[in-house]
Amino acid sequence: MCKRWKLVAAIVVLVPVGAAAGEPAAAGRSLYQQTCIACHGPDGRGVLPGMASLRAADGPLSQTDEVLLRSILDGKQSANSPLTMPPRGGNPSLTEADARALVAFLRAEFGRP
Ligand code: HEC
Repeated sequence: MCKRWKLVAAIVVLVPVGAAAGEPAAAGRSLYQQTCIACHGPDGRGVLPGMASLRAADGPLSQTDEVLLRSILDGKQSANSPLTMPPRGGNPSLTEADARALVAFLRAEFGRP
């Protein structure tokens, strides 16, 4: 019983430290795969008809980090879009640090130089 609790404690301690120690884009990748990929797809082009591609040169990633951060945390509904970006991608446990890691990942993976 005692050993099992030590193991649980070790996992609880190690997981967040591991995530913080990696580079932000790497942390963002696993968050993207858990929370965002269902709508934005593995290539960022979007899996739902009518969704803006994150890869488009004049698309969402042409905005500043702060704008993207707010869209991820607060959600977004453009006037001309039939679809809504849910706050935190629908994952209430997503933190602001997670959202920053996601912005770094989006730029590294889908952004243009
Ligand atoms: C339920 C589907 C869905 C999920 C899950 C989702 N998104 Fe979105 N996302 C959208 C839609 C739809 C839009 C376009 C909204 C609009 O412009 O009205 C969007 C837009 C965006 C934009 C552009 C915002 C802007 O300011 O133009 C970013 C960045 C983004 N999503 C990132 C993410 C990230 C990161 C996650 C995971 C944490 C995520 N999305 C999860 C549907 C989703």
